[in-house]
This record gives sequence, structure tokens and C-alpha cells, in this order.
Amino acid sequence: MSTHAGAAAGRTPVERAKAALMDTYQRQPITLRSGHGVWVTTDDGRELLDVVAGIAVNVLGHNHPALRDAIAGQAATLMHTSNLYYTEPQLELAELLVASAFPSRVFFCNSGAEANEGAIKLARKWGKVHRDGAHVIVCAQGAFHGRTMGALAATANPRYRKPFEPLPKGFVHIPYGDLEALEQSIDSATCAVMLEPIEGESGVIPLEPGRLAAIRRLCDERNVLLILDEIQTGMGRTGRWWAYQHEDAAPDIMTVAKALGGGVPIGAILAAPRADVFEPGDHGSTFGGGPLACAAAVAVMQAVESEGLVENAAEVGDYLAESLSALADRGAPIAGVRGRGLMLGIGLSRDVARDVAAAALDEGLIVNAIGERTLRLVPPLVITRDEVDEAVLRLGRAFDAVAGYGADA
Ligand SMILES: Cc1ncc(COP(=O)(O)O)c(C=O)c1O
Repeated sequence: MSTHAGAAAGRTPVERAKAALMDTYQRQPITLRSGHGVWVTTDDGRELLDVVAGIAVNVLGHNHPALRDAIAGQAATLMHTSNLYYTEPQLELAELLVASAFPSRVFFCNSGAEANEGAIKLARKWGKVHRDGAHVIVCAQGAFHGRTMGALAATANPRYRKPFEPLPKGFVHIPYGDLEALEQSIDSATCAVMLEPIEGESGVIPLEPGRLAAIRRLCDERNVLLILDEIQTGMGRTGRWWAYQHEDAAPDIMTVAKALGGGVPIGAILAAPRADVFEPGDHGSTFGGGPLACAAAVAVMQAVESEGLVENAAEVGDYLAESLSALADRGAPIAGVRGRGLMLGIGLSRDVARDVAAAALDEGLIVNAIGERTLRLVPPLVITRDEVDEAVLRLGRAFDAVAGYGADA
């Protein structure tokens, strides 16, 4: 076994990936080597402005000293213990999460799909214990909850589901935010309603104002649990710690991952006392809540707080949305800007999302295309107004290269 054998043989990353990596991703043709703040550097030395942030993960940007130091310090102290013992980082992180959200207790895991998997189990057990065996979870069309079998059953997109059917039963999908459909779909077999406060993967689709609070009320009236997947919307991204806080519509169960570790894999489930029905032996994870990942997440939560990044997401997010609307006014094929804080989707009026994302890369900007009609911007929460100006300038040039509308005019 020799390291860097592929590189030594002069093969490109694309060739090496073709031979050694499963073919599951459509990757951009670049290899990233290092990062700093909102910038990343490719192996051939190009500096790119990154407004994707590992898909809403790198909230502190790349290479943040507090996160780096926390990881290095914990790695030099205690890296893994299993959950047979207590560790200080896990306890501290649980306390910070609960303090940022609603009265609850926490279970730690390693990813978003895993958090949702656990939330589904929790809701099923609650249904068994408190609602006569009710087990059906009402989910939303457009929902994305992850790639494991339970999370996939809660996910709507047939493209992701079909090859793996039969999926676990007991999930129904109704139009996102449709209160009437929700009312009709809840029956004696229903244990929970599960949704994202803003649908991320299907194109940054927000709920109408007031809708989440109405869904919360309905769940109370009908005695079913509300599960919110805040995996993409959480950790300050929308201008509040958690997106539900815009409407004071606290869920019974909330799932968290992505930004929690700032780049270190970690996920969590928060459950209000009513839904907190796991007992010893019901659920577990070898790595979940390990001291290394928890120390990283503690550092992330503390930095988000001490650097005012929730407020920054709200303020700079508004500025970014305005700047994108100004691009539209200047003729870019933008139909509208959706989302909240630093979770924004640019709806396009033409099928050019992938072309624009590719052109943006040539202009030194990493932006994410969702299908052909949406560009997603989920930058690090440390992004400044100046960096937003630079990102919008580069995006304008990309639109110009693709759609020729005269961005610099
Ligand atoms: C809302 C939401 N839920 C769940 C997931 C799955 O998370 P993971 O990829 O960490 O399993 C994602 C990932 O994009 C997501 O956006």
C-alpha cells in the first residue's frame, strides 16, 4: 500500500475518483486544499469565495481559530469514550443546546439522517405509549430528511426513494404548509407531523408567515407530536438560533446536525418532556456525542454567540437578499429571492442554474444549483457586507456570461 499512488502516477482527481470512489455525487471539477473564513483555495492555487459552506455546515467559515483550537485541545486530551461514561464536553453541549432552544433533553448522534432516524423512532414509541399505537408520520411534499431508510421514507422526492423501495411504511406526504390537507390527514393512526421550517434541498421554500404557528396549534388540538427538522435552518442561519423561534412555535422534537459541529460530524435530537420517552436500551450510537465532536460543537455554539453571528445572519442576510434583488433589477434572469437570513434561494426565470453555477466557479465563486431553476446561497455566518458585495459582483458576472444581460452596466 503506497499513499498518493494515484497522484504519483500522474492521474487526475477525476480519474482517481472514477477508479476508487463510488459514483454517488455530481462533483464540481475542482480539488479543494485549504480554507480561511469565507474563502477556499484549490490545489492549483485559485482562491474561491464560498457561499455554500459545505452545504450550510461551516457556520464559522473555514479554519476558525476557536474551532481549530477546541478540536486540537480535545484531541490531545480525550478523543473517544463510548456512551458508557459521562464526559464534560457532552454535558456542556447538551446544556448549551437546551438553553438555546426549548425545555428539552438531548440525544447525540453523528449526522442529519441519523438524527431524523432517531426522531422517527421517538415519535413511534410515543405513539405506542401515549396514543394507542399510532405510528403514522405526516410529512411534506418537497421534504428532504436524509438517505437512511427511515429518513428516506420521510423524504418526498421519488428520485431518491424509488431505487430503494419498499421503504418503511407509515409515512404520508401532503403539500408543504397546506393546513387543510394536514387537518384531513391526521387521524387516529397519526403520531406526528414532521417538516422543515424552510425546505432546503427542494429549493429553499419557506412557509407562509404564521403557518408554522398554525401547524403547532393543530398538532396540539389533535394531540400529535410536531417534529421540526432544523438540520439546515438551525444554528442561527435564519437570523434566530432556530427557525421556529421566528414564530415561537417550539416543536416537541427537533433535529439538528450540519452546522452544529462547524464541519465536524455531529447530530442531535432535542425532545420536550412530553416526547422524551426513550428508556435505556431504546436507542444508541457508538460515536454519538463523543468528546471530540462535542468539544467542537461547544466551541461553535460559543463563537456563534460571542461573535453575534445570529444577528449577523439576520442583518447581512437582508443585505444579501437586497443585493440579489438589485441584480434582478439590472436584468439578470431572477424571478425572485426566497428564504430568510443567510439561507437564500434565487429563483430563476430561465433553466440556467447549472450553467450559472459553472460560470460562477470560473469567476471564483462557489454557489449551489438546485435543479435548473434555483441557486442556493448558504454562506458562513461570519460573512461581511464587503464579502457579500464581492460575491454578488462575481455572481453578476456569471449571469452575464450565461445570459448576457450586461451585469457591469
Ligand atoms: C433538512 C435536512 N435534513 C436532513 C438532512 C440529512 O443530513 P445528513 O446529510 O447529515 O444525513 C439534510 C441534508 O441536506 C437536510 O438538509
